[in-house]
Amino acid sequence: MLTNIFDAHCHYDDEWFNEDREELLKSLPECGVSGVVCNAVDLKSAEVIKGYAEKYPYIYFTAGFHPENLENIPSDYKEQIAKYLKHKKCVAIGEIGLDYHWDIPKDLQNRIFEEQLALSKELDVPVVIHDREAHGDTMALLRKYKPKGLMHCFSGSVELMHEVMRLGMSISLGGVVTFKNARHSVECAKEVPVERLLLETDAPYMSPVPKRGKRNDSRNIVYVAEKIAEVRGMEAQELLKITEENAKKLYNIDNKA
Ligand code: NI
Repeated sequence: MLTNIFDAHCHYDDEWFNEDREELLKSLPECGVSGVVCNAVDLKSAEVIKGYAEKYPYIYFTAGFHPENLENIPSDYKEQIAKYLKHKKCVAIGEIGLDYHWDIPKDLQNRIFEEQLALSKELDVPVVIHDREAHGDTMALLRKYKPKGLMHCFSGSVELMHEVMRLGMSISLGGVVTFKNARHSVECAKEVPVERLLLETDAPYMSPVPKRGKRNDSRNIVYVAEKIAEVRGMEAQELLKITEENAKKLYNIDNKA
């Protein structure tokens, strides 16, 4: 059995887990999962996943506003995020970023993203970045702020990946690397410096082959690790150990809990 599975980004508060969430979360450590970072999309989800982090030693959480959740954002949202970050298991501001796939006002998205990047610098905490069909504007703000953190479910080219590396950030890869049409992701998986690579599920979405289309959970990271290890010419277990270390370092975990 493969161990040292660290899921750098997921959403266990999703209603898809309502039926068996507790059973599943209880069982993950027995399946080789050593760490999980549940990501918030707004304050309500931050509160829910804080509860999981308080109940399960291996679970950590983030606080932040996802670009799809900006309707009715409270005026004091930054203070509220800052309050969560005082919690010893709140490890980043996330997930934040830009999403131009949906028809959400770009000026609002950019303003809230920029304010959260500024907050991360002020508090000296990492960020978890969501960038969907918005590489240009996302990179412009990352160049401006140079935050610590990771680009989750990285979907850019190798050139863009190298630029992310020059900014000092990391990328995390998930189920997409196992898809047939995932040329960019596989190239990035091969080329990225191994110390800047994290693994994630984005559960409940993005299940890797052979589970594609089904509900995803942290155990499925083994398929992602096997695929990436294969293209890099290494053992999956070795890759899991390295990416676990990378995640702990990026999220400052051994110092936090
Ligand atoms: Ni996500």
